[in-house]
Amino acid sequence: MKYKLGFIGAGNMGSAIINNILQHKSCINNDDIIICDINSEKLSYYSSIGVDTTTNIYDVFNKARITFLAIKPQTFFQLKLNKNSILSQYIISIMAGVSVSKIKKTISFDGPVIRAMPNLPCLEGNGTIGIYYSQKIESNEFNFINNIFNICGEVVEIQEKQFDALTSISGSGPAYVFYFLKSLIDAGVKVGLSPEISKKLVFNTVLGSTLFAINSKDSLDTLIEKVSSKGGTTVEAINLFNTAKLNEIIDKGVSACAAKSKLLSED
Ligand SMILES: NC(=O)c1ccc[n+]([C@@H]2O[C@H](COP(=O)([O-])OP(=O)(O)OC[C@H]3O[C@@H](n4cnc5c(N)ncnc54)[C@H](OP(=O)(O)O)[C@@H]3O)[C@@H](O)[C@H]2O)c1
Repeated sequence: MKYKLGFIGAGNMGSAIINNILQHKSCINNDDIIICDINSEKLSYYSSIGVDTTTNIYDVFNKARITFLAIKPQTFFQLKLNKNSILSQYIISIMAGVSVSKIKKTISFDGPVIRAMPNLPCLEGNGTIGIYYSQKIESNEFNFINNIFNICGEVVEIQEKQFDALTSISGSGPAYVFYFLKSLIDAGVKVGLSPEISKKLVFNTVLGSTLFAINSKDSLDTLIEKVSSKGGTTVEAINLFNTAKLNEIIDKGVSACAAKSKLLSED
C-alpha cells in the first residue's frame, strides 16, 4: 500500500488528529498520509506541506493500509461504494453512535474495525479517547494506532457497549466543566471580584485542584474533608451543595446524556 494512513474527513476532529500526528514527527512521515475531504479548501494547507490530498474517497480506501473515518454519521450512511472496493486492511472510526456492525455493513468491509471516541481537548493534545478493537490485531498495527491516539491524549480501552457511558463522561464532559467554570466565575463576580480576576482564580483553582487530586493518595472524600474544616468557611458551601443534592443533579444529567447517546446510536 502506498500510504500507512488515510483520512476521510478533514473537519474539526479529523484535522485536529491529523495536525497532532503531523506535529509529532516520530509517528509518521508526511508522505505516508493521504487526506480526503469534499471541501478542497480544507486540503490546501496539507498539500502545501507535502501531504497528498484528494477529493475522491477511493484514493484512501484503495491506497491506504489504515482508513480513518472522520466524517459525520449522516454523511457516512450516504456513501455509495462499489462492491468489494475497499483495499484498506483496517478501518478506524471516530463517528459518534455508529456501531462496528453498522460500519461493516454500510461499506461491506470484513476486516478489523477500531472504534474511538475523542473529545474536544484532543485538539490540543490533552484529550481523552475511548477506544474499542472489534478484533485482535497485529501488535505492530496495535502500537501504531495506539500511538496516534496517545498523541491526542489519554487512551482508555473500553467495550463497545460502554460507548454511551463514555460519551456521557469524557465526550460531553468538557461542556459540564465549562458550565461549572462559568457558574463559579459568575459567582465570584457576585461576591465582589472583577470578571478578569474571578476568571483567573477559577481557572487556576480548577487546574491546580485537579492536578492535586491526581497526585494525591487521598480519596476525593478525604480531600473535600481536608478543605472543609468544622466551623470554617468552605463547609458552608459544601453543606448547601449537599442540601440541594447537587450530586443527584449531576447524576441525572449524566444519565440523560447517556440515554440520548443510546437512543441516537439505535436509529
Ligand atoms: N467535533 C467533535 O468534538 C467530535 C468528538 C467526537 C467525535 N466526533 C466525530 O467526528 C466526526 C467528524 O466530526 P467533525 O466535528 O470533525 O465534523 P466536520 O467538521 O463536519 O468534518 C467532516 C468533514 O468531512 C467532510 N466531508 C463531508 N462529506 C464527505 C465525503 N463524502 N468525503 C470526504 N469528506 C467529506 C466535510 O466537508 P463539508 O464541511 O463541506 O461537509 C468536513 O470537512 C463525526 O462523526 C463526529 O461524530 C466529533
